[in-house]
Amino acid sequence: MENLLHLRAPGNWMNDPNGFIYYQGKYHLFFQYFPYAPEWGTMHWGHGVSEDLVHWKHLGLALFPTKQYDRNGVFSGSALEKDGKLYLYYSAVRYLKTDDEDIHRALGNHFETSQALVTSEDGFHFDNWKDKRQIIPVITDTEIGDPADTRDPKVWFEDGRYYMILGSVYDRKGRVVFFESQDGENWKYANQCRHETFGRTMECPDLFWIGEHCVFLGSPMGISEDGKEYANHALCALAHFDKKSCELEIAGDFQYVDYGMDLYAPQTNVDKEGRRILIGWMRMPKTVEEEGKTPWNGMMSLPRMVEVEEGHVYFRIPPQVEEYFVRETEDRHCLKTGKAYRIQTVLEEGERLEIGGYQIWVEDGYVKTDRSQVYKGIEGYRTTAATPKSLENHRLDIFVDANLIEVFVNEGEYVISHVVYDLGNEVNGKVLRVLEGK
Ligand code: FRU
Repeated sequence: MENLLHLRAPGNWMNDPNGFIYYQGKYHLFFQYFPYAPEWGTMHWGHGVSEDLVHWKHLGLALFPTKQYDRNGVFSGSALEKDGKLYLYYSAVRYLKTDDEDIHRALGNHFETSQALVTSEDGFHFDNWKDKRQIIPVITDTEIGDPADTRDPKVWFEDGRYYMILGSVYDRKGRVVFFESQDGENWKYANQCRHETFGRTMECPDLFWIGEHCVFLGSPMGISEDGKEYANHALCALAHFDKKSCELEIAGDFQYVDYGMDLYAPQTNVDKEGRRILIGWMRMPKTVEEEGKTPWNGMMSLPRMVEVEEGHVYFRIPPQVEEYFVRETEDRHCLKTGKAYRIQTVLEEGERLEIGGYQIWVEDGYVKTDRSQVYKGIEGYRTTAATPKSLENHRLDIFVDANLIEVFVNEGEYVISHVVYDLGNEVNGKVLRVLEGK
């Protein structure tokens, strides 16, 4: 099954991107996957591949529970290439008490988490019985980590050493924990960082360099008043990281990765050319039911190129996506539904653009959006969004797909992405260019 631009759940449920890597000539993007119903349950890793970050092919299941330690879930993690092999690191979940009426959920906080590794010779074959190994057992010393909530290993190799950052909790506050290793297989605790902006628990942390700038990325839980899991948001900030001691210090102000607040648990890695690319999970409150298709819930954002300029983290359109949108169309006001489009414009103060019922306008220097007309019947979730104030003029580069609108403001200074339903095909307001895919 092919997906264009956005990898979608191939039926049933998808959440976080996992194991994103360019490996042996292909981009691999795994994801949290529940194959039985369009809702969260015992986690597996689904598998997508792409040659260009634009055309995606689903390859079915990669990882699933087989061991006592991962019997209740193969949670999020990351990928690395070592000696030509693909290494997938993940969090292995075992319930200590199970909900009798839903065996896919633990009762209360009665579960434990360890970190595990699967290797593959080619990135396509995974032996879930023979090639799995527990590499960090359940942490029992709460000064180091939490036995239940320590998860989502992001692993990287640098200056002859392997590093792992994990999300965790201490005394109901988020923290990140570092492990280090000489060989990527035997790990030892190195350090940790606690911070008031790390929420109730930290999920899916990531740490990387853009030139000399160190960027921390993470998804803290419970940092806003939004209902349900939408109180969890992806943030980033410039940081200092001491490679020897693994001491992390947040140095800059926190930014939202995406001001639409639907994007969560993003992960980064470098593309073929070494650019830092981010992909995030777009949370969907409602399952999409289309004729002849298995109902599906969850999709990935566009890949975004991370750059740092003057202390600000930009999320830009990567060249791979630029290259796909090459055809300018004359028809600017009635777009074919079901096909992805790119709309470019500049809005002045007070001007407004409406895309199939989705509203975008500029008010007091803020770019604001309202999706209420294309988010009908969904209670308890935000329908409006705004970027921080920006005094520049407002250049908008907007990607419109069947269930997702992504608005890049001023070349990625800010991004607002929103899940939408039943989008119309009329465009009203000032449009400079409309581009179609190849
Ligand atoms: C984030 C998250 C991760 C976890 C995974 C489970 O959305 O909660 O922390 O590994 O999803 O599906």
